[in-house]
Amino acid sequence: MTAQIAVLNGDYIGPEIMAAGLKVLAAVTENQNFDYALHPVPFGGEGIDKMGDPLPASTLATCKQADAVLLSAIGGPKWDKAKRRPETGLLEIRKALNLFANIRPTVISPAMRQYSPIKNEDPVDFVIVRELTSGIYFGTPRETHETYALDTMRYTENEIERIVKVGFDMAMKRRKHVTLVDKANVLDTSKFWRKITARIAADYPEVTYDTSYVDAASMKIIADPGQFDVILTENLFGDILSDEAAQITGSLGTIPSMSKGTDGPALYEPIHGSAPDIAGQGIADPLSMIKSVAMMLANSFDRQDLSDTIMTAVDKSIDDQIVTPDLGGTSTTDEVTDTIIKTIKKVGQHNYEPNH
Ligand code: NAD
Ligand code: IPM
Ligand code: MN
Repeated sequence: MTAQIAVLNGDYIGPEIMAAGLKVLAAVTENQNFDYALHPVPFGGEGIDKMGDPLPASTLATCKQADAVLLSAIGGPKWDKAKRRPETGLLEIRKALNLFANIRPTVISPAMRQYSPIKNEDPVDFVIVRELTSGIYFGTPRETHETYALDTMRYTENEIERIVKVGFDMAMKRRKHVTLVDKANVLDTSKFWRKITARIAADYPEVTYDTSYVDAASMKIIADPGQFDVILTENLFGDILSDEAAQITGSLGTIPSMSKGTDGPALYEPIHGSAPDIAGQGIADPLSMIKSVAMMLANSFDRQDLSDTIMTAVDKSIDDQIVTPDLGGTSTTDEVTDTIIKTIKKVGQHNYEPNH
């Protein structure tokens, strides 16, 4: 069977890091009994420029037929005044593929520790489980009037239940701890999340469960990130906290994500945007995209072995300080990518052990 992969190259640094991710995919799958076909289709700003729409119908059709979708990053000043911005396409594709669960890992590996801006000594390995297709991003009414504007935060029981289950199921495979992050001292939607989460938590007696207000949680991510295992939260809080969490590893440019629903293809993308400020210079950090490829191989294609090979090679490049300027290095996107590919070819299935 040939794995069908839809490729959304994106805007500004998008194509630069996608090229890196696809080079790594080619290298790691060589002679590994993994056949795949790539289907590049216009999306975001590229969709607007080529087809007049950030999510052309043909692009959505290709994604729906695929086994997985790889996306880099979209948007930027070129389209900020567009009637339908690239970001609209992103929200629409998440909704159309029912990708309600967004998984954003934060790991400070031993190799990564030297780049972390915080003093923390404890191991840091947590994951943000962000609700992705509801909340204030999608609630209606949503209106702009002469003297006021209006957004709506709305959650149904079913929307909360299904994401809470994803969070607790994930905790069962990890260190069995869930923190629900909300603003239940103010918001009705947060109180509703607490009620439903408490009910579902009872079905997972092995999982410990606590809650934190989002303002305090944003402080704890910096002060004591080792306490978290699974952070479960709604759409907007998850957006904000995941960029903050990324930065404690050293750079936003290193964090991948998976978005999934109950069936159909999952989508893999860096958590960051199109970084217009550094586009075209060849210095974008490709690790977020390369790790998104690793996540795809493990989760959509059951190839944990290939995923591990990529992650081992990524760790070695970090350990050897072959890193882009966002991590304080002087290497280019290509140099980082080629270093990782060299390690992949050398180690194959044999795991590299960092020497500290
Ligand atoms: P951004 O994430 O693009 O950039 C924030 C900062 O992080 C910038 O200084 C940038 O240079 C840096 N950065 C991000 N990724 C990097 C990488 N791989 N290597 C090195 N540095 C990196 O956020 P922004 O500037 O606020 O947004 C730019 C555009 O991206 C906007 O149009 C926004 O809507 C869009 N956006 C898209 C996505 C997505 O496609 N999923 C996510 C976030 C933002
Ligand atoms: C992200 C981005 C998007 C979001 C934007 C571009 C719509 O910031 O994927 O984190 O807010 O979800
Ligand atoms: Mn974001």
